[in-house]
Amino acid sequence: MSPPTDDHTDSRSTTDLSRRAFSRKAVAAGGSGALAACLENSDRTSVNAPEGVSDPESLPDRQHAWNDVLKTDDAGNVVPPAHHVFLSLSLSSGSDPVAGARGTVRAALRAVERALEWSGDGLVFTLGYTPAYFDRFEAELDAAVDLPNPDPITVLAAASDVTVDTNDALLHLASDDPAVVLAAEETLFGEREQLNGHSPSASLGGVFERRGRRTGFVGPGLPAERQHGLDGIPESEPVPEEAPFFMGFRAGFRESQATEDRVTIRDGPFAGGSTQHFETLELDLEVWFEESDHEQRVARLFSPDHAERNAVGEYGERLGRDPGVAATVDDAHDDARERGVVGHAQKVARAREDGDPVLLRRDVNTTDGDTCGLHFVCLQRDMSEFVRAREAMVGDDFRQYGLGPRGSNGILQYLRLRRWGSYLVPPRSRRALPRPDPGA
Ligand code: HEM
Repeated sequence: MSPPTDDHTDSRSTTDLSRRAFSRKAVAAGGSGALAACLENSDRTSVNAPEGVSDPESLPDRQHAWNDVLKTDDAGNVVPPAHHVFLSLSLSSGSDPVAGARGTVRAALRAVERALEWSGDGLVFTLGYTPAYFDRFEAELDAAVDLPNPDPITVLAAASDVTVDTNDALLHLASDDPAVVLAAEETLFGEREQLNGHSPSASLGGVFERRGRRTGFVGPGLPAERQHGLDGIPESEPVPEEAPFFMGFRAGFRESQATEDRVTIRDGPFAGGSTQHFETLELDLEVWFEESDHEQRVARLFSPDHAERNAVGEYGERLGRDPGVAATVDDAHDDARERGVVGHAQKVARAREDGDPVLLRRDVNTTDGDTCGLHFVCLQRDMSEFVRAREAMVGDDFRQYGLGPRGSNGILQYLRLRRWGSYLVPPRSRRALPRPDPGA
């Protein structure tokens, strides 16, 4: 891969486009070659990110405390980091979660926090553990944690070719700087000695094996740039330049997101932690863009009322910080019966509690395997809250109006579920190979 040159003089947008394309490709490719190319591009030998803290214990106990250090847009919506890597980790044979490995994991993660600022310019990350990891122990997972392993087939009420994550852990790394994500990954696995001028003394490499590497990106311009020549997207390249997601609209508006407080576990040894769901969805954008017009797409993604009032704009620019989906919930059945369509957001907003969202979504676009998709990531206090929202999205109760999964039942017909996992994201103080019953 060769880095883009900085010698474009024709237009600034051409330069921006090539930089964006290059960054996204580098993160997707991974490895020292991609990192070297990124660094060379900026004429540096090391990443040049803001430095971390001398005392990692001064960071918030919540690993998922990202919002306060991320940028916000003019309307106050949190702007997610642009580049993401998700590593599926399995304990190396011989690695005993109760032995010295715990100290190694703690040291490796703290070294990253000393080297890189906890922010979008630096790095934010979470390390979560699967039910399979906790099954290694004789003790039961603390009763205050709701981490069943929801079966996708049961939740979706449909047969599907889905891989359930039975590895031990998922490491989610995110930064606005592609070189930072890559350098952190390399350093954490002992393939690089220096990180932002620091020399970590420990790596995860001897404790975990990387079983899967997935990547994502989000932000205006990135999906539009990636649509060029991508299989599954119409040649007309319909994704608007400003849209942060492939389906052509903004998402993650402040009033439709749970707060970090709302998704935080309150009691027990894992208080301060959260549960996380990760699923990979393949997108059928050819059908999405070619068999429906803008108004129909708004109706299916938001609600028919949004479409009728032209409330969304081209890509969501009219919505500010509140997409106004709560007000459409009561009409969901009437809309399905009388207008023959019910919106995705309209349906899932039925899973709110006392009017407030219970899921904090941090999903990103992906082109892993050259397939256009979405890594849907969300945090919630209890996994059962995710299951409730996912069942609301399936919307079985709309079948009575003829709206099955292949009908105008939200966006179901454009999605194919491929991968699915649940995790406990412990508080920072317990994130290194936790026992299921710490302190017991
Ligand atoms: C390609 C897949 C998806 C797309 C394009 C998508 C898009 C959207 C959009 C545009 C909204 C409304 C505005 C906002 O985000 O604030 C929304 C809301 C929401 N979506 Fe999705 N979504 C997808 C998958 C999912 C999945 C798998 C779930 C899992 C349950 C989900 C749960 C939610 C929830 C809980 C809300 C907030 C509803 C409320 O206001 O209470 N979405 N989504």
